[in-house]
Amino acid sequence: MAVVQKLNAVQVQKDFPFFRQGLIYLDSAATSQKPRAVLNAVVGFYESNNANVNRGMYQLAEKATAKYDEARRIIAGFIGARDDELIFVRNATEAINMVAQCFARNVVGAGDSVLVTEMEHHSNILPWQRVAREKGGRLDVVPITERGVIEISALREKLAMRPKLFAFSHVSNVLGTVNPAKEFIAEAHKLKIPVLLDASQSIPSMPIDVKGLDCDFLVFSGHKMLGPHIGVLYVKREFLERMSPFLVGGGMVKEVTFESATFKDGQEKFDAGTFDVPGAVGLAAAIDYLKKIGMENVQAHEEELARYAYDVLAKDPAITVYGPRDRLNLVSFNVGDMHAHDVAAILDEAGICVRAGHHCAQPLMRRLGIPACVRASFGVYNTKEDVDALIAAIGKAKKVFGI
Ligand code: ALA
Repeated sequence: MAVVQKLNAVQVQKDFPFFRQGLIYLDSAATSQKPRAVLNAVVGFYESNNANVNRGMYQLAEKATAKYDEARRIIAGFIGARDDELIFVRNATEAINMVAQCFARNVVGAGDSVLVTEMEHHSNILPWQRVAREKGGRLDVVPITERGVIEISALREKLAMRPKLFAFSHVSNVLGTVNPAKEFIAEAHKLKIPVLLDASQSIPSMPIDVKGLDCDFLVFSGHKMLGPHIGVLYVKREFLERMSPFLVGGGMVKEVTFESATFKDGQEKFDAGTFDVPGAVGLAAAIDYLKKIGMENVQAHEEELARYAYDVLAKDPAITVYGPRDRLNLVSFNVGDMHAHDVAAILDEAGICVRAGHHCAQPLMRRLGIPACVRASFGVYNTKEDVDALIAAIGKAKKVFGI
């Protein structure tokens, strides 16, 4: 087992120019701040290597293509994938839409279902809902327990209905619950049901290995893991062949006439148009940065902060905390009957940035019986002192509202 070194968040914070302004940033689940190494990689690409990739015949274009290929290798290696199993997109939402349109649309028919869970983000509900509705199928949902987890028996019951695909989040963006992804995927595969894993909330904070997990599709966004606004879709090789192209246009074709066209194979059939090369280069720099810290260390650090926050907040009878104690990188709560937006506004006055609202998970809010909640989420740059400042500011909010 890897030896977990303590991450020194005070030192780490110095690598992030953002923190010069003195804010306490507790909204990394929405988007993360970027270390200088990522900013330099993006600016450096534009300054010295900028040319369109896979097209130009001059040396600079070859250099740009080599940078892009290297970025692809680093990103693929980070999740244990092969280079040609990655598709670059705008974000995780686009990646899920792509799988819905290019795969699910081909396999879902009248009366068929796509299975999701009750803790999903809208982005992992709506693309399936749309395809299912258009095809005369339906969305089915695995319920969560009172504690905010999914029982394997509940999942088995739903899988037995033979959905055409099972899509679930590795870590809930509201509850912080870490789903046992490997076990869930194995259950689905026993019945030959393909699985999409939404790693948006897990990949910034824990090691991910697509071959170990055996997921068929995996999606994530670069901007939540210290990188730029680029997204990644991993597709297991055998599924790439079963997907039709998403966008058609330059770069993904073999032969074009006014009457017809033939498309490239594998991942290349998804590379329509000029894509976000600096984004890929920046994401590779973010991964290099995370790897230097070590993902086991990142995980231990963020779990420690989240559990510390959970333990203090859950002890307060005026505060309701959602989700299990075992969690990864965030804590969501409500303070008495204060509206979450009011709590966030008071925290903002103390220079603390948190997200408040339904967190793009309205069905989950309905299940919890609340319209909204406050969420504090943590990154490599957060300290225990940040959590203490959060707790002190919540105390102030309680006083203002007489709670
Ligand atoms: N999905 C992001 C969040 O949970 C934006 O805040």
